[in-house]
Amino acid sequence: MGRSMTEVDVLDFPKDLCVLGIETSCDETAVALLKDGKIVGEKVVFQNDLHADFGGVVPELASRQHARAISQAISQTLEQSGEKRPEKVIDAIAVTYGPGLAGSLMVGVSAAKALCVAWDLPLVGVDHMEGHLYAGTLHCPIKLPSLTLLVSGGHSQIISVEAPGIYRYLGGTLDDAVGEAFDKVARLLGLRFPGGPEIERLSKAGDPTKITFPRALKGDSLDLSFSGLKTAVLRYLERNPSSKSEDIAAAFQEAAVDSLVDKVTLALKKAKYRSVVIGGGVAANSLLRDKISALCEDMGVDAVIPPKGLCTDNGAMIAAAGAYRFGTGSASPLELSIDPSLSFV
Ligand code: KG4
Ligand code: ZN
Repeated sequence: MGRSMTEVDVLDFPKDLCVLGIETSCDETAVALLKDGKIVGEKVVFQNDLHADFGGVVPELASRQHARAISQAISQTLEQSGEKRPEKVIDAIAVTYGPGLAGSLMVGVSAAKALCVAWDLPLVGVDHMEGHLYAGTLHCPIKLPSLTLLVSGGHSQIISVEAPGIYRYLGGTLDDAVGEAFDKVARLLGLRFPGGPEIERLSKAGDPTKITFPRALKGDSLDLSFSGLKTAVLRYLERNPSSKSEDIAAAFQEAAVDSLVDKVTLALKKAKYRSVVIGGGVAANSLLRDKISALCEDMGVDAVIPPKGLCTDNGAMIAAAGAYRFGTGSASPLELSIDPSLSFV
């Protein structure tokens, strides 16, 4: 008997499961209901205004806000789905249990456990970064082996997905995550938090060729580094206080995106892949999306670039990863504990 192509050669999640996904690892309270492979209800409560004055997420404020928002986010998601008796159709409740901020994770995990107890449903703990990878499967099944670039506020990783659940870490940042660099540079330029969308907006009016900031670590390694780039922007600003912030934003964005694309190019030359997936908040960046899609066309591999709302934190990606995990028999005990430094590779 030959093995089934769809089981081994493609990353996907079971479409016959109905899973509620809950995500509170950082500063978004996000919930979604996946049914028959589709998002039938979803809610994301953003905390941007709460943290804007501090230039970054304040953990204590974040967890308090999750506690205020979570019940309504769940009830609005269920209402939107039109399910009158959700406990009768839901197969499992998936929740992020790490990595992330301890107090924030605790709110989502506690809410998920309460629902599991009330409705007598299984709990499935999900790794936030595996969730970002599975966001790609909500867009289309991912051909394996796949090269994955996961870029968020806390992580920048290049991972090889060899088979479902079989991952190999190829490289990652040695210092700041790329999203963190966007946020810090935005702060230097007096922009609001989160910095990524602000830098992208400002860059549109700038000329990226006016300034050249340093690119990726040279050599054969797939590791990344962004603290030098951030410092280069700071030094440039000190020396050129009257330069146009639009040009600085555009030049920084170009350097950060080139650093990522250079390493993806190198990884594609080192081994054979059938697809490239991008995920995490920075994958919402239009320049990165365009450059990855052009690279994939050149190299003849599929580009899996999920819609922007599936790149930033959302509940559907947790439901999809949870459906995959539940489908392989890995439900979690109700004693599941949060793990702020969890890693799936
Ligand atoms: O995945 P995510 O929503 O939360 C974490 O898991 O961290 O990623 C948030 C990060 C922030 O650093 C934010 O500035 C960045 O993603 N980001 C962007 C864009 N949208 C969000 N960076 C660059 N360009 C964007 N359009
Ligand atoms: Zn994230």
